[in-house]
Amino acid sequence: MSRKVTLLTATSIDGFIARVDGKLDWVITEADAGYQEFYEQVDALFVGRGALERILAVGPWPYLGKPTYVFSRRSGARCPRGTTLVRRDPTRFVAQHKELPGGDLWILGGCGLNSALLQAGLIDHLVLMVYPAFFGTGIPLFDTRQERRLRLTCSTTLPSGVLNLRYDVAK
Ligand SMILES: NC(=O)c1ccc[n+]([C@@H]2O[C@H](COP(=O)([O-])OP(=O)(O)OC[C@H]3O[C@@H](n4cnc5c(N)ncnc54)[C@H](OP(=O)(O)O)[C@@H]3O)[C@@H](O)[C@H]2O)c1
Repeated sequence: MSRKVTLLTATSIDGFIARVDGKLDWVITEADAGYQEFYEQVDALFVGRGALERILAVGPWPYLGKPTYVFSRRSGARCPRGTTLVRRDPTRFVAQHKELPGGDLWILGGCGLNSALLQAGLIDHLVLMVYPAFFGTGIPLFDTRQERRLRLTCSTTLPSGVLNLRYDVAK
């Protein structure tokens, strides 16, 4: 059986994963969000160069200890210790990883990577932390015009009002 690919991300009600300038200052960490359990289950992380830079802008790389693949076509992209630069097509690379033995795979984002993998039918599960806010503008969760059906498998309301929604993505 192939490994499962999960996209877990925070989003506003109107589907933005970051402000126009890429900032994530609205994201909060909540103890009972189920994140820790999820993190322990995944074996590898996949991240676009845009998301990587945004995370590094606010501190050191937080996912040391999990193999992380950074997608960039640039030869000189700055990758922190514990991460590997991948200059290949993300869809082919993730598809190959799905067939290797091991645990589940986490798509960390951002929009460009999410969209390519959704379009290629490679995302099995979607976990959305939906923040009770409209941004009106920003970086969207996906920029594809694809229609996809989802099956809600779990929903939790956190004390802050953030909704934790888990979906299976129809193929
Ligand atoms: N809310 C959340 O939980 C969350 C999570 C993650 C990210 N984000 C936000 O998402 C934003 C970043 O999204 P984004 O869409 O700008 O960038 P992204 O998807 O993170 O990265 C896009 C980059 O990936 C590389 N790439 C794309 N296709 C490729 C291919 N075929 N081969 C090799 N490399 C390829 C390119 O890098 P090069 O240009 O270097 O070639 C491209 O510019 C950030 O602002 C971040 O805050 C939010």
